[in-house]
Amino acid sequence: GQRVTTSLATTAFTSVKPNRRDAVVTAKGFDCDVLISWGDKVEAGAPAFDAYAQTPEAARQQFGYNNDYVGVLPIPGRKKRALLVTNHEYTDDDLMYPAGVYTDLETKAISMSSIGLSVVEIRQGLVPGSWLRATALGRARYNRRVHIGTEFKVDGPAAGSDLLVTDADPTGSRVLGTLNNCSGGTTPWGTVLSGEENFNQYFDATTGLPEQYATQCARYGISGSGTGWYEVEERFDLSAHPHEAHRFGWVVELDPFMPGSRPVKHTMLGRLKHEGANVSLSDDGHAVAYMGDDERGDYLYKFVSRDTYRPGSSRRAHRHNKTLLSAGTLYVARLTGDGTEDGRYDGTGEWIPLADETQSFVDGFTLEEVLVFTRLAADAVSPTAMDRPEDVEPNPVNGRVYAALTNNSQRGSSFEPDEANPLTTSMVRSAPGQPLTEASGNRNGYVLEIVPGGGNRTSLMKGDHGDTSFTWNLMLVCGDPDAEETYFAGYDKSLVSPISCPDNVAFDSVGNLWVSTDGNALGSNDGIFRVPVKGPERGHVQQFVTMPYGAEACGPLVADDDQSLFFAVQHPGEISGSTFEAQASTWPHTDDFPRPSVCVAFRRQ
Ligand code: FEO
Ligand code: CA
Ligand code: CA
Ligand code: CA
Repeated sequence: GQRVTTSLATTAFTSVKPNRRDAVVTAKGFDCDVLISWGDKVEAGAPAFDAYAQTPEAARQQFGYNNDYVGVLPIPGRKKRALLVTNHEYTDDDLMYPAGVYTDLETKAISMSSIGLSVVEIRQGLVPGSWLRATALGRARYNRRVHIGTEFKVDGPAAGSDLLVTDADPTGSRVLGTLNNCSGGTTPWGTVLSGEENFNQYFDATTGLPEQYATQCARYGISGSGTGWYEVEERFDLSAHPHEAHRFGWVVELDPFMPGSRPVKHTMLGRLKHEGANVSLSDDGHAVAYMGDDERGDYLYKFVSRDTYRPGSSRRAHRHNKTLLSAGTLYVARLTGDGTEDGRYDGTGEWIPLADETQSFVDGFTLEEVLVFTRLAADAVSPTAMDRPEDVEPNPVNGRVYAALTNNSQRGSSFEPDEANPLTTSMVRSAPGQPLTEASGNRNGYVLEIVPGGGNRTSLMKGDHGDTSFTWNLMLVCGDPDAEETYFAGYDKSLVSPISCPDNVAFDSVGNLWVSTDGNALGSNDGIFRVPVKGPERGHVQQFVTMPYGAEACGPLVADDDQSLFFAVQHPGEISGSTFEAQASTWPHTDDFPRPSVCVAFRRQ
């Protein structure tokens, strides 16, 4: 019969209702396939997954745990093939290991080997918008697991700094592994960026934290009590190796089309709890990366490259473009409200420079200190303390930048409110159908819309990502539409889906915003929403899919001519008290325990 193609950007659908089902529930008329799950083979020669016979060696060849970022890069010259690039953020040890099978040391070693990134070749399925992973792994030459033993090259002004030198690496320029890779971005030159987020949690300090870095450890949440990985690799004991933690917390860049290449840690983009990084080009061709530091009261960042992007697919252009994130200027954001009398949370902002590749702009900090201790350098220039910046991503259609500010339970207590972070109380729910009750702080989050300098929100002028000024507004004040404080860009609240805790953002080809959530404070499962950003439909939040029980939704990506929605189901069953033997979720129901997986949704035929 006729193949029906459907654009996720333009098709009307009925919103999925809040629920707590242990299933992926898409809007009516759509299907969802699991593309790959934790434990599936990635590299040729990987053993089949066996929950009762896991090893670190196997995990380093299999799909990792807790997939977050999802990138899909078409393979040049091979029309129906693409590379799926996924982050594996962290592990849920309670859900991964049956009782009595592994020693404590074994689970640590396996968990250490279950994070990092995966590159997986995929091919179009028969139904438009559907995709399958390539199973002839011997011919999938790009398939790769980047893991805790993979060597990274440190690049940028802090490479080789004394602050990065360790016993194992006197050059301060070679790091084994990457930690807690959360969200990311695909660059205009076809590489993938990935944010090292909560890296602090992996470090212990068996005989005390290094005294000379006490202030810095405190600012980064390094307490000296970690996951005990030092028992497997001693470098994770900061008492013995005080600089090891400085080697994590970066934006990393992976070239998935060069399987043998070393991934890079970019010191020029600063060290923080990087959610991710998304690159756009300024009007005059500089690469501009937007970034969030995901912590209560932390900041929005931007980097503008010194050199300009070279278009084209030649090897020379590609090599050049891969140097763009090595030199340029790193900025942090200050947002100023224009008063709430106008009935809107909005105002102006500026990007404050912290350093470029030759010098620090912050008194009392050397260039290397700005880059390695970016949070402390930023503290010195009075940026705006935000409600946990997650994804910050430019919309290629309208040129505006959208930031997910996921929540902050301490706004109004530890953090003073301001116009960009206005709520000190918010309405939450314990379960669907239960009454709304008031909780302290901002529990449901915001979506911040930034219009770069030179742009205008009403005239649709785009503005320039290279400009150091901007205007902003809270386009969404998330929560239940029945709660008075919520706001959906002025759209009719009786027609929108409840939405809570925005985390990742993406855009389709007409510029609609797609938002995934993590930590729904309205008592239902997390999910993914479509939100038009222009015209009379601006702010019409509609839930497209809900996640299995206990899972967060990650990495939405609209691809394949708007026919496919790729997304990551992270930590199904992550409910306090869950164990391997007593699972709160068994999704995707291939076994009697849950497996984080990457999915693709498409129109049912
Ligand atoms: Fe890993 Fe900020 O989420
Ligand atoms: Ca205002
Ligand atoms: Ca996230
Ligand atoms: Ca989150």
